[in-house]
Amino acid sequence: MNQKQLVGEKAATFVEDGMIVGLGTGSTAIFMVQALAERVKNENLSIVCVSTSKATEELAVSLGLNMKDLSEVDEIDLTIDGADEISPDFHGIKGGGGALLYEKIVATNSKKNIWIVDDSKLVDTLGKFPLPVEVVPFGSEHVFRKFVEKGYQPEYRKDDADTKFVTDSGNLIIDLYLNKIEDPKTFANELKSEVGVVEHGLFIDIVDQVIAGTATGEIEVKT
Ligand code: A5P
Repeated sequence: MNQKQLVGEKAATFVEDGMIVGLGTGSTAIFMVQALAERVKNENLSIVCVSTSKATEELAVSLGLNMKDLSEVDEIDLTIDGADEISPDFHGIKGGGGALLYEKIVATNSKKNIWIVDDSKLVDTLGKFPLPVEVVPFGSEHVFRKFVEKGYQPEYRKDDADTKFVTDSGNLIIDLYLNKIEDPKTFANELKSEVGVVEHGLFIDIVDQVIAGTATGEIEVKT
């Protein structure tokens, strides 16, 4: 069993009957959603799920999970999602799959957040993974140029057809090739203050628990 499947299945065991559950996005979250759907069927669990992307929504519906919009539910009990990098102080980069905006909205409306990763994503310093910044299309070239001037090495995210990737909310993503983010909190505030930036992939003080899989098939749960 690969690490993604291992941690996805493990995380699904943290869901309890009656919960409102946030479903993450990405290749690791897919395993969790599949395992959760199995549990719901086998154990006859009564849960409500909220999705972080159209892709996850489609998968969850196809597996028969009971889906609701975020606005229809009170606070989410538990959200389980993947991540691209996690620092020792539990800050992270997310958005490799382009779902960072909905992921952050769901995460910040959750009582508890669990991230599921393989242990290659546990890093000393954030920033090797390109930091996604979601921007409004209108005037985005100006934001892009400011990032160039600041030396952030921006690149528009492209899709398979080599056109600009469009997020679920109709925005664009500019990936910043920073290599190192020395002070994630300050950098997060700087990005947020740029008009035209909708959200960025720095998740500061959001995750409560990390489930990491190792190459030897062990699972580490960190809090
Ligand atoms: C989606 O936008 C992301 O935040 C994913 O959760 C993250 O990129 C991890 O994805 P994988 O589990 O596919 O590595």
